[in-house]
Amino acid sequence: MEDILSEHTRNILGLQLPTDPRWVNLAEIQLEEILTDHAYCEQKAATTCISLIQKNPEKEWLVEELSPIVTEEWGHFRMVLAELKKRNLSLGRQRKDVYVNKLIEFQKKGGSPDERFLDQMLIMALIEARSCERFKRLSEGLDDEYMRKFYRKFMESEAGHYTLFITLAEHYIDKKIVRKRWSEWLEYEKELMSSAEVRGDRIH
Ligand SMILES: [Fe+2]
Ligand SMILES: [Fe+2]
Repeated sequence: MEDILSEHTRNILGLQLPTDPRWVNLAEIQLEEILTDHAYCEQKAATTCISLIQKNPEKEWLVEELSPIVTEEWGHFRMVLAELKKRNLSLGRQRKDVYVNKLIEFQKKGGSPDERFLDQMLIMALIEARSCERFKRLSEGLDDEYMRKFYRKFMESEAGHYTLFITLAEHYIDKKIVRKRWSEWLEYEKELMSSAEVRGDRIH
């Protein structure tokens, strides 16, 4: 069953390495940490979409498509915040995001504006894809049925965002170039995931 799910996830998202199955068990015992980390992931998704709109005002279609995503990601943040409140937990401070920092290192510095734009779309697509895969794990692996359903909603939403960022990349950049760079990103992320410590207090 595990293999079928991994294959399925790979086919949808292109990810080269499924999450270590131990992760969901570690996350389950540290759900408070996961909720805090998740809250900040949603917040960063919203602010990054705002910043992409600010940096690309001439790309009208992008502005149109990303505007509602800001609202959606902020809505996700509020959903997680409400869940924390329900458990009498506070938001807590933002944690260091090793995964995203490592991805940023792979972004082209000093390339052409198109190359930089492409990497901005692909890094977002990748974060959405990996988040989606992690939410899938939680929605299938947690004992608590309510929490399984909770994460399922995020999983569906982030799958849509992954698709949108790839579509945006292909709208503005030659599809062949997008595909080539995407496979480089997937390869890099695979290496990153295989060398990263499995820790249950982070979404990534
Ligand atoms: Fe989200
Ligand atoms: Fe998202």
